Amino acid sequence: MSDVLWELQPATAAKHQLYKRYLDAWWPIMLQPTQRGYLRPRVTYLDAFAGPGRYLGGEEGSPIFVLDRLLHHTAVERMQLRRDRVRLIFTENDRARFEHLSAELVARFGDLDALPVTVIVRHGDAARLTIPLLSEFGAWLHPILAVFDSWGNVNIPLSPVITSIARNQSSEVIVTFGPNWFSRREGEDPDQLDDVFGGREFWSPSDPSQDTDERWRNWLATYRAALRRAGFAHQLQFMVVPRTGQPLNLVFGTNHESGVEAIKDAMWKVDGSDGMRFLDPRVRGAVPIGQLDLFSSEGMVDPELLELVRQHLTDKPLTTLEELGKWLLLETARWRAMHAKGAVQHLHGEGQVVIEPSGRITKASTVRLLKGA
Ligand SMILES: C[S@@+](CC[C@H](N)C(=O)[O-])C[C@H]1O[C@@H](n2cnc3c(N)ncnc32)[C@H](O)[C@@H]1O
Repeated sequence: MSDVLWELQPATAAKHQLYKRYLDAWWPIMLQPTQRGYLRPRVTYLDAFAGPGRYLGGEEGSPIFVLDRLLHHTAVERMQLRRDRVRLIFTENDRARFEHLSAELVARFGDLDALPVTVIVRHGDAARLTIPLLSEFGAWLHPILAVFDSWGNVNIPLSPVITSIARNQSSEVIVTFGPNWFSRREGEDPDQLDDVFGGREFWSPSDPSQDTDERWRNWLATYRAALRRAGFAHQLQFMVVPRTGQPLNLVFGTNHESGVEAIKDAMWKVDGSDGMRFLDPRVRGAVPIGQLDLFSSEGMVDPELLELVRQHLTDKPLTTLEELGKWLLLETARWRAMHAKGAVQHLHGEGQVVIEPSGRITKASTVRLLKGA
């Protein structure tokens, strides 16, 4: 690995596909006039761990493809790009990578001051720069999407950084965690975990008797709880699993159901043909079939979906189809309300649940887990 550029890892490539799809949806939602004709005066995208803008094999880094896709978006004519309206902020701590990124941006897009959007590239520590930069560029009180894509070598303090974004209107965060992130921190520097979770009382060391997966499950649940305390109504956790190589964990915080829908849409749109998939970290041992295609084989229901529905019914043995659908949407990594019916029908066919009244299944149908199922 060179000091400045490095090889694109399969998990990063998979994550990039997700970012592309999500941002393709996010920009027009934020920038087009609303149905009532309201035009948001400002929208800010922040990539706090921006990287050098390129990988060793020539692949584009996130700042390059994000800006490129915005400028060439199919809805660009309707998005009313203006420099005072649309701002992209990139921070990078490593001097050589920062310089590489600055040069890549100019080589690719020409004079940044001549672009129809404002692009800010700063050298420095994300944890320290995020709040001052968001203030300097007038981001508060308007939508912000902040991506914290570190290798796990740095923490973003829950307070004030994540908390301020969570409490800002229509704002979202995406935080990634590489393998071993939490276990490394725990041994080396518990103070950093205090920052990440907002205090020593909100986390406890891993149980050494647990296996790695179980520890991850607990850490991610702890981080989800931290995002909730920070003020995000919805927090999705999921694992990006490439065909080869290490998986990557990602947590998404939003205050809007539409944000949850949008990130799930992005997941389902990502082409699974290269073998990547998204998993819900709370599922133990389910082997997902195929890629992202739920009913890839006729009549088959994804084992992950079934396990999650069973888990929910174990906690809540009597529920309605509507409530189950809502839970799938808001609490699970990739499933949506529409998936509830197929799962329940499958469990019914296996004699694991009772659905009442019998006959046509509707939103109001109740679903009951049979004892011992
Ligand atoms: C995972 S890479 C980013 C990859 C990039 N977002 C992409 O998808 O192409 C993490 C980057 O964060 C940088 N970095 C590390 N510590 C940082 C800090 N405290 N503040 C800002 N950047 C940092 C590293 O130098 C590295 O370039």
